[in-house]
Amino acid sequence: MFKNVQQLPADPILQLTQLCRDDKREEKIDVGVGIFINANGETPVLRAVKEAEKRLLATQKTKKYQPLSGNPEYNEAIAKLVLADSFDAERIRVNQSTGGTGALRVIGEAINSMQPQGKFWIPDPTWGNHLAIFAAAGLEIERYKYLDEKTSEVDKTSVFAALEKLGGNDCVLLHGCCHNPSGADFSRDDWIKITELANKNGFTPVIDFAYLGLGESIEDDAWGVRYVVKNVKQALVAVSCSKNFGLYRDRAGAILTLGANSKEATAMQSHINAETRKVVSMAPDHPASVVAEILNDEALRKDWENELNEMCAFIRSRREKLQAALQAKSSFDWSFVTRHHGMFSLLPLGVERVKKLREDFAIYMVGTGRINLAGLRTDEKIAYFAESVAKVM
Ligand code: LMR
Repeated sequence: MFKNVQQLPADPILQLTQLCRDDKREEKIDVGVGIFINANGETPVLRAVKEAEKRLLATQKTKKYQPLSGNPEYNEAIAKLVLADSFDAERIRVNQSTGGTGALRVIGEAINSMQPQGKFWIPDPTWGNHLAIFAAAGLEIERYKYLDEKTSEVDKTSVFAALEKLGGNDCVLLHGCCHNPSGADFSRDDWIKITELANKNGFTPVIDFAYLGLGESIEDDAWGVRYVVKNVKQALVAVSCSKNFGLYRDRAGAILTLGANSKEATAMQSHINAETRKVVSMAPDHPASVVAEILNDEALRKDWENELNEMCAFIRSRREKLQAALQAKSSFDWSFVTRHHGMFSLLPLGVERVKKLREDFAIYMVGTGRINLAGLRTDEKIAYFAESVAKVM
């Protein structure tokens, strides 16, 4: 039956880790997949996570099923972390999800089941997996231009021209902060304008929120999501705990569903519940219970926030050093590197230079030039990276 099956290409992001691991060159640099890496080259389990796991091991009495929507303590804690004062229990429903990807897939399936005539607008560029996820959910995908390639900033003219044309059946995917792959984010004024357009034209914002706390701070990074959720009628938010809690392989995430009123929110959530049941039945308990333990314990939460701030500051320090090193080597304007936020910046290199950097210099980056700043973990690596980029420019 499967004798003529064709082998599919490997995932373009995840395969880089293996390719780099297999590379024997000592100078190699992995700026591929989006994981935090400290100065020693480790991606450690966070202190608060270790402690919460110890407590869970000692106190957990059962592994029986949770409600279909997930662990209620986790759901409330994660919604309050993300939304703070914008959390309106009347109009918002919360579901635990299998990481951010699981949240996005279930949201896609639920949109298809609630409003199959609509179009789903995805920024260009975006995280490579977005297209596959929403296409698999059966949505009709359209793209809107997001990035100005000349300045490496958000192409506001194109974004707002696209949003201006949308209507009540359309959903728009927005990156809540730390845009992947570009690092170029909306300003507060942009979020206000997006909200005004959503209210005027009736489209639904769908926000992918995977990097809370890794751009500037929890408050700054969440500003746009909170503003939108407070001021629009309907929205869907996919939350990931992979990066900010370092729970990558454990898969903790959430879906926040905002309806115009309580009845509508409950009806929308019934679709989220039904799709969750079909796709995974239930999200994994362990990582969500760990997050709940951290967020609901004052000391653990403080320690987590401290460690998150340390990771964020480390990434920002990499940006400053990289920008200075690149600027010293070429007349090209690299100032956008320090204006970008989060783990990534998209350097305007193109596939050919990216390939050359991998083959000739053992530098592993994604697509047309996305780098994970945390991979440039020492001054020596930054110097080697900047020299190599200068050579291929
Ligand atoms: C990335 O973009 O590198 C991360 O979100 C990891 C992934 O799953 O692709």
